[in-house]
Formats: sequence, C-alpha cells, structure tokens
Amino acid sequence: MSDRIRMKSLLSKVCSADEAASLIKDGMVVGISGFTKFGDARAVPRALVKRAEAGEKLKITLMTGASIGSNLDEDLGDHGIIARRLPYMGSAKLRNHINSGEVMYLDQNLSHTGEYIRANALRRPDIAILDTTFIDEDGGLVCTTSVGNNALWAVTADKIIVEINETQPMEMLGLHDIYHPEPRPGRGPVPITHPADRVGTPTIKIDPSKIVAIVIHQLGDTPVTLEPADDETNAIAGHLMDFFKSEVKKGHMDNTLRPLQSGVGAVANAVFRGFQDSPFHDLTMYTEVAQDAVFDLIDSGKMTAVSTTSFSVTAPYMKIFNDVKKLHGKIILRPQEISNHPEVVRRLGLISINTALEADIYGNVNSTHVCGTKMMNGIGGSADFARNASYTCFVTKSYAKKGLLSSIVPMVTHVDHSEHSVDVIATELGIADLRGLAPRERSRVVIENCVHPNFKEMMKDYVKEAEALGGHTPHVLSKAFSWHERFLQTGSMLMPAKEMA
Ligand code: COA
Repeated sequence: MSDRIRMKSLLSKVCSADEAASLIKDGMVVGISGFTKFGDARAVPRALVKRAEAGEKLKITLMTGASIGSNLDEDLGDHGIIARRLPYMGSAKLRNHINSGEVMYLDQNLSHTGEYIRANALRRPDIAILDTTFIDEDGGLVCTTSVGNNALWAVTADKIIVEINETQPMEMLGLHDIYHPEPRPGRGPVPITHPADRVGTPTIKIDPSKIVAIVIHQLGDTPVTLEPADDETNAIAGHLMDFFKSEVKKGHMDNTLRPLQSGVGAVANAVFRGFQDSPFHDLTMYTEVAQDAVFDLIDSGKMTAVSTTSFSVTAPYMKIFNDVKKLHGKIILRPQEISNHPEVVRRLGLISINTALEADIYGNVNSTHVCGTKMMNGIGGSADFARNASYTCFVTKSYAKKGLLSSIVPMVTHVDHSEHSVDVIATELGIADLRGLAPRERSRVVIENCVHPNFKEMMKDYVKEAEALGGHTPHVLSKAFSWHERFLQTGSMLMPAKEMA
C-alpha cells in the first residue's frame, strides 16, 4: 500500500468503498473519472448502487469525461441514482431513461464542459472520484488509462475521493501530460505545435487536504467490443485512402498527411488498418481516443506520435498494458480540454474522421438523434474536431436497418455538424468532396456518389421538385421529413411501389 500512497500523511484516509460512498449525499454533483469506458472510477460508484438496492433514495448529477465502463451508467441509471448526466454516455440502457424523460441529459461538446465549470455556468462538483495509479510524495495523482476531466474535477471539486487502482502498472507514470487552460482574462495560447509536445506535468497537482477518502481496489478496466470490419466498412476506408492519396498527388500535403483524429467504431478501425499497407508514413494523431489499430501502427513504425485522452481497446489488445514503458515517448494522454481544444485542432490542421447517423444532400450531419428526437449517444468530441479540422470527413454506410432506411436524407432531422463544417461525406459507394461547392452542386455529388441505389431515384425526384420551387438551398418543406415519417409509420423509408409509379 505504501508504494501507492507515497505521501505518508494520507495513509490515514484509507477506507472501504462503502465508507467513502457514505460521503455522497442525495442531490450532490459528483464528477468521476472515465472516458470511452476506460479509466473510470468504479469501486465507490458501485457502492452507491448497493445503497439504492438497500432502499435509500439517492439522486445525483453525474459528470464524467465521456462514456464509462464497469456497467456503471447501466446500474446507476436502472437504480434511479442519476438525476442529471453530462457530458456524454454510450449506454443503450441509460439511453432509455434519457429518452423517457427520467434523466436530464446535457449532451455537450467534450471540450466545453471545463469551460462551463471554470466559468461557474455549471455547478462545480461537490465531490470528485478519481481513478488513480498512485499518489506521489507531493500528493500528485498519477492517472490511469484515461485523463478525461480528472484534472478539472480535481481542481474544482470541494472534496476528492481517490480510488487507487492496483490493476494499473506503476509505469503509467510518464504517459500523461496535465495542463490546465489559463484563467481569463488574459488567457495565453495552449503551446502545442506538434502532437508529441509536452506542455504540462506528469501528475495532477492537487491540494492534498481536499482528499477525504482513499479506496484501494483491484477492479480492472472493461475492454470494449468492436464490430468486425465488413466489405462495406472496408470500402469506406478504401474511399478515404484514395481521397488522401489524391490530395497528396495534388501537392496539398505529403505522405505524412496531417495529424489524424477519428471516432471509435468499425469504420475508424478499418481506416487505420488501411494505413498499414499504404504509402503513408510517420503518421501522427491528435485525437480523443486510441483504439486497437493504432497500436499496430505504432508497433510497425507507421505511427510515430499519438496524443489522446484515453485508450479504448478490445480484450486481445489489453496486452498493451503489460508493457506500458513501450508506449512512453509514443503516446501522450492529455485532459480532454486539451486533447479536444479547438485552438490546437485548427493550428495542427487535423484530418478528422467521425461517424454520422445520417447526412443530408447539402452536407448537414446528424450524429445524435434518431429521427430527430431520440438520443443515441451524444455529440462527444466530434464537433470539437469537425468544426476546426482542415479536412472534416463524415462516414456512414449508405443505409441502415437492413436497407429500409437511407442514411442520406433530404434534410437531417437534427443538426450536429452544419454544412459549414463538413468537407467530405463517404459511404461504401463513394465519396462526396463538398469543398467549394454550392448547395445545388453538393446535392448532385452526394446523390451520385453516396446514396444507395434503392433511394437514388426518390432523391432525384425530391431535388427536382425542390429546385422547381427555387431557393439557395432548395427544399420542399412539406416533404423534407416525409422519409422519416414514413419510416416511423411503416418501418421503411422506401415508397410503396404504387406511389413510385
Ligand atoms: N436512423 C436511425 N437509426 C440508425 C441510423 C439512422 N440514420 N443509422 C444507424 N442507425 C442505427 C443502427 O441501425 C444501429 O442500431 P442497432 O444498435 O439497433 O443495431 C445503431 O444506429 C448504430 O449504428 P452503427 O451503424 O452500428 O453505427 P456506429 O456504432 O458506428 O455508431 C454513431 C454511429 C453515430 C451512433 C456513433 O458514431 C456516435 O455516437 N457518434 C457521436 C459521437 C462521436 O462522433 N464521437 C466521436 C469521437 S469518439
């Protein structure tokens, strides 16, 4: 134990998870670690579930970095403990509580939470629960497999509960770079000009007197599951590769490309697998999450530097934590305020690749709301990157629900990324490079290259009718959402044959 609590005056704070959880009262705002299901505080939140099971009424505002693992959103949500939740979740179960109106969900850009908290526009945490590898001699906290909002919670919470996670190797020290945005007025630039730049400290510096409890546990991270690549995700990856090659051929960048950012999921993983046998080399990433394929690229030498705020790997890739030293100097974990910082994203000129639920013929993208009303997961960091990258790409299969639903629609039912942010849309059928195109030109490229054949004629008819009505961005307002309405009523966006005739 003394190896992991090196500030000896803190040894007296060690207690059980139940004792630590008793410090959390009904109505509190609680900020916990966790991002893309890695590095979440888990022992104390699980003790809260026990209290609810015993019949206690307990409702809290739960703030995290992003999605959390250890089945926490599911169990805390099902026990009615979460009254409010922000800034992101990725749980099918919690989604139901959000969509039924039981849980108030603040779906935020992941770089923004810190701005709101620091400006007191959101209530600061009463208590923070932080997943930690060890506490150093000065009380500095060594993070684990994500940084997320840990540093933010540490400096803004009234009290801190530290979870010492004994499953984490001590070599975690050296992976993190903790930097706080300077206060306003007079905030200076974030001095990052390359993904490998270190600008902060290896530990979270805190006021040790804020630590009210230390809980030691051996509960490991939950590996994620990843849909395997299929012909269509591989085709999307192939179209993006060809696009990058053509940009290199035109002299717009060289074979080291620009720092890459991608969301999680099968397409992103397929794209990164595609880099392995590509002419591209000395690649870098400035992203919020590093998933499996990234570690193969590091191993093969194709990827030289990765800046992220978290890991998100499947079970076979948990082996990377057996030799964390190997990652030192290649991968840096930063607070999400910095990994997603718009200023740095713009300065580095990222290639950003994120997934759309649906996109429209003019390039607006919906990443969050099914049929405009039901929350899927949240916007996450996608807009932090998309709005400011030099190449903003959105990917999606051209269809969903076994072909009954088109992912390219006349008008998106919710706008997360407007036409002004979106440069490229790729489906398995092809790529639409929208840069420099006016709306009437955009619709043609999107229909020709990205719309599934089952919906192509319907879409051409829609555009014809819309253009006859005129306008800069032509629409038939009475029909703009008719595809979604038909899907909700019949389970299919396809027109009945008699109406097509
Ligand atoms: N309308 C309704 N449902 C749709 C749909 C649409 N246009 N497109 C897809 N779906 C459904 C799928 O059928 C699937 O449903 P199921 O779970 O019942 O099978 C589900 O949505 C997920 O679709 P899938 O194709 O598997 O996509 P994904 O897992 O790659 O996720 C997003 C896509 C958009 C939901 C996901 O990327 C996301 O949450 N993005 C926002 C956050 C983000 O971009 N973060 C980036 C930084 S990490």
